[in-house]
Amino acid sequence: MTPPRERPATAGVVGWPIGHTLSPLIHQTWAAREGVDAAYLPVAVEPGYDAFACAMDGLAAAGFRGVNVTIPHKENALRYADAASDAARTIGAANMLTFAGKDGVAADNSDAAAIHAMLADAGVVSGRAFILGAGGAARAALWALQQPPLGFEIAIANRTRTRAEEIAPAAGAPVVDWADRARALEAASLVINTTSLDMAGMPPLDLPLDALPARAVVCDIVYKPLETPLLAAARTRGARVIDGLEMLMRQAAPGYLAWLGRSAEVDDDLRRRLEAALCEGGKA
Ligand code: ATR
Repeated sequence: MTPPRERPATAGVVGWPIGHTLSPLIHQTWAAREGVDAAYLPVAVEPGYDAFACAMDGLAAAGFRGVNVTIPHKENALRYADAASDAARTIGAANMLTFAGKDGVAADNSDAAAIHAMLADAGVVSGRAFILGAGGAARAALWALQQPPLGFEIAIANRTRTRAEEIAPAAGAPVVDWADRARALEAASLVINTTSLDMAGMPPLDLPLDALPARAVVCDIVYKPLETPLLAAARTRGARVIDGLEMLMRQAAPGYLAWLGRSAEVDDDLRRRLEAALCEGGKA
């Protein structure tokens, strides 16, 4: 008798909408390199906690090892989990759930880990950081910038000032008026755009860089377009830039490790594949 076929290790990414996600390409690239029998599927789940919880119950029952979670479910993911990492709890959002861990469903925030790792690896560990935005990505950046070996003095600007005021005190960060954002660059050694501005279909960030010190590092979480107007202007000034694909690739690695038990290489080959997919048809 033929032995029963082993099921592929299955994981996925949950969001709404989810059609254009690049995450399956990242995970499938890693699995194919190692010849691992794995599947990574996009799963569309409509907004709302009940729909999310119902879908997670179903995916866990179907044998999924875990999921990445994206807009609009990152807060729902934290609420659904039985246990959460320090990062996810502090940030108040999770982009990763692992099913059937020893503590039940475990939540983590690998966006924060990705920001931390990309800066630490680039040797950008201290100085004055200026964060644009006050959403979940800004909270992830705030957390990351305070984890050793990183240690930054941080300032934050957000269009809706009150949102920045909610998250700034815990980091001892002054809030800068959105209208004064260009002036606040004067003392910055690191600038991180966590807003959705400059993204295809969104208004421009409109941040003149005249005041930015030439040796500053500029990061953008937007990866469509990959070279945002902010990064293009920063490059022109001779600043070092870190683009949105860097964070996208790095945030995926903890899931691959948790669900397949293998570490994944974030390298030029993966970057080239993602850049090709972005060019191909705006698949972001
Ligand atoms: P995420 O959790 O992915 O960070 P979010 O909570 O929707 O997403 O945050 C998006 C960020 O982009 C916010 O800082 C938002 O500013 P507001 O808090 O004022 O909404 C910012 N943003 C979005 N559209 C903007 C616009 N047209 N002008 C300025 N900032 C904008």
